[in-house]
Amino acid sequence: MSSDLEKIKQREWFYSFDLPDGSTSKSYGNGELDAIHDTRKQMLDAVLGVHYPDGLAGKTAVDLACHQGYFSVHLAKSGVDSVLSIDARAEHIADTQLISGVMGFDNIKTLHSDVHALDTESLGAANIVLCLGLIYHLEDPIGALRKARALCKDVCIIETQVVPGMSGNVDWGNYQFVKPLHGVFGIIDETYETHGPEASITGICLAPSTEGLLWILKNIGFSRVELLTPPEGAYEQLKFGKRVMVAAYI
Ligand SMILES: C[S@@+](CC[C@H](N)C(=O)[O-])C[C@H]1O[C@@H](n2cnc3c(N)ncnc32)[C@H](O)[C@@H]1O
Repeated sequence: MSSDLEKIKQREWFYSFDLPDGSTSKSYGNGELDAIHDTRKQMLDAVLGVHYPDGLAGKTAVDLACHQGYFSVHLAKSGVDSVLSIDARAEHIADTQLISGVMGFDNIKTLHSDVHALDTESLGAANIVLCLGLIYHLEDPIGALRKARALCKDVCIIETQVVPGMSGNVDWGNYQFVKPLHGVFGIIDETYETHGPEASITGICLAPSTEGLLWILKNIGFSRVELLTPPEGAYEQLKFGKRVMVAAYI
């Protein structure tokens, strides 16, 4: 057995990876998070299957906040030409390299970067941009979504925890100049959790409401925005709309 494969098998991972020897990597808490990853993978496959009926060959992808590269590997297995996997944590970049190396995917390239610092012009655009589990860990989620938009040629898939919405009108300066509310952001404290591998790197998080997210996506340059329907048996947060997955099209 390769020593890299051995290294993978000795540790616990955020994801349950199917390994080349037929085994699967040990995932957190004996697989307690596998359901959320499975639901998101199913929803991703469903939307890409409709958008690319002839398959993913010839398509390129960017995986923002790739973590250990689970969705990057999934896209590579599904036939995309190449994936650029980006994360702000160096340990995740190292893990993505380890996993993709053992799986034999030399078309997965990595970049260690904060999403806000990306030079989108020099990176160029990819057909598919994944932005899963990221924006509710950020203090500038709209800035990150603008980066995602700039990196996207066809479709961007955003998955996020959301907060309860609020609607109504706001007196904007005075009672005769009134504006409708298009959604809200909830302020969430991760300041004491920034050491956590899945958490924010600054600790100040703004989580959008669903309506707010859809409105923002339409207003930063996506022509069509679709709230995806969770499948039968979906992970509870997606089933009950506490997290949402959205496809935003150029
Ligand atoms: C909840 S995990 C989601 C990982 C993966 N995308 C998924 O959905 O399974 C959040 C990820 O965002 C990364 N992250 C947090 N802040 C970031 C930032 N400012 N720029 C890039 N990545 C960031 C973390 O390192 C972590 O990998």
